[in-house]
Amino acid sequence: MSRSIILLFLGVVLAKHEIYEGHAVYEVSVKNYDQGKFLNQLQYQLEVDFWSYAVPGRPGMVLVSKDKRSELEEILKAENIEFEVKTENIKELLDLEENLLEDVSKKSYNASRSAGLPFDRIYTYKQVDEYLEMLAKQFPETVKIVNAGKSFEGRDMKYLKISTSNFEDDSKPIVFIESLLHAREWITLPATLYVIHKLVIDVTERDLLQDINWIILPIANPDGYVHSHEQARFWRKNRATGFIPANVCVGVDLNRNFDINWSTASSGNVCLDTFHGSAPFSEPETANIRDIFTEYSDRLELFLDIHSFGSMILYGWGTGVLPDNGLIFHSVAVRMANAIDTVKMPWNRNYIVGNSALVLYQASGSAMDYGIVGGADLSYTYELPGFRGGSGMMGFLVNPEFIEQAGFETWEGIKVGARHVRDKFKRKARL
Ligand SMILES: *[C@@H]1O[C@H](CO)[C@@H](O)[C@H](O)[C@H]1NC(C)=O
Ligand SMILES: *[C@@H]1O[C@H](CO)[C@@H](O)[C@H](O)[C@H]1NC(C)=O
Ligand SMILES: [Zn+2]
Repeated sequence: MSRSIILLFLGVVLAKHEIYEGHAVYEVSVKNYDQGKFLNQLQYQLEVDFWSYAVPGRPGMVLVSKDKRSELEEILKAENIEFEVKTENIKELLDLEENLLEDVSKKSYNASRSAGLPFDRIYTYKQVDEYLEMLAKQFPETVKIVNAGKSFEGRDMKYLKISTSNFEDDSKPIVFIESLLHAREWITLPATLYVIHKLVIDVTERDLLQDINWIILPIANPDGYVHSHEQARFWRKNRATGFIPANVCVGVDLNRNFDINWSTASSGNVCLDTFHGSAPFSEPETANIRDIFTEYSDRLELFLDIHSFGSMILYGWGTGVLPDNGLIFHSVAVRMANAIDTVKMPWNRNYIVGNSALVLYQASGSAMDYGIVGGADLSYTYELPGFRGGSGMMGFLVNPEFIEQAGFETWEGIKVGARHVRDKFKRKARL
């Protein structure tokens, strides 16, 4: 009896990352922009998973299933594009990640008023949900919890409003931060939870709590996030169904579904990771986020969409055209990046700052671009570092050693951005 239960349990664990058995990760280096452009176009042709894009001097990473490897290699060789196989079988690293995270998650913790959650693990949707509810109960003077609406599969999208004046004081700017719009980017969750921690539990910079109203949405893509825990670790999109070809592929890339230049630099193929959906805001998740923008657009000064990986702070427009106040976008981004670089782990590279289309590639319908349309004076995508360390972890995989650091160092950047808009908002009010 107990033996069969154990075997059953093992079976479940082993089956978990089975879909990635034999998937390899390639590091791809391009010599010039034409090669980069060619390579990035492959995302729309081959069903391979671009983890990061290649530009000259900065290799990209691609996850490739066993049966697609020879096709990809032939194309790369024909185009004289250099590549290196970083791991022959990503499943081994997935099992390693799972073991490391499971070891820490066995340690008990008390999410108490004075201690909050420990930053040594990655929390599930349910754990985050309970935590946010607990904070709202324990800190009614500064924390309100709001349900932005339901996801495709019916999960609540809850965010916190953090304010010493219940958002009623018009003289305070609003800063809006979200994470996990892309499900697999787990390391972004500790970044938003850390912001909450520093504004609610361990308040060492009182001005940031006093002078600013904060909106924090830790899980912008709940269905995808749950799916990435339970079924497919590298799932990026939401879990919407009903697309043609029916029953073959599911999910919309939420970061291509916002109503800004929709469908001009994204995919119409539901089987790809950059599928933009059937219409702008076709997805309940993006529509809910749009409604947050609409509600707070008056005083919304800064929007940060936290992604991983790549150590970058990016701004619009995704077409490559700069916003009107492009110089301010750039200089604030540089200051935020410098603040992070000062405290980052020495083996991670310095942050790169720039227009998203120039640093990476063109992309339409992003939350970052919609942030500007939606009323934010400044709107950025953060790409947190991919932590390698000694464990061999790469890309989206999380080494528990990096979790607290990811929260801590990202907060250094966020503080700079928040203080900038606070000071600017004050000057504006005096005019
Ligand atoms: C959690 O709190 C309880 C009751 O205060 C205490 O007995 C226990 O040791 C705490 N556990 C941890 C891990 O701090
Ligand atoms: C993107 O949208 C902006 C603002 O609506 C418009 O001016 C621009 O021409 C669009 N660009 C593309 C490539 O669609
Ligand atoms: Zn992302």
